[in-house]
Amino acid sequence: MDKSETPERAMYVCNCNGIREREVRAAIAAGASRPAQIFKACDSHAQCARCVCDMRKMLDEEREALRFAAE
Ligand code: FES
Repeated sequence: MDKSETPERAMYVCNCNGIREREVRAAIAAGASRPAQIFKACDSHAQCARCVCDMRKMLDEEREALRFAAE
């Protein structure tokens, strides 16, 4: 684990594809607005889809942060 990486950011969001939280956040920062776009940005696709709820939560958090910053 990179020293600048908190344990939280090193956590896997998607176990099927080995996608970590930082990769999901990077995909969102690059413009992904749906889980399907996050999978595509990570060069993967949904398998069991158990991670989709977590991805949606992260998308909502990012939207909320942007909305809050714009106020
Ligand atoms: S945990 Fe992401 S597709 Fe299974």
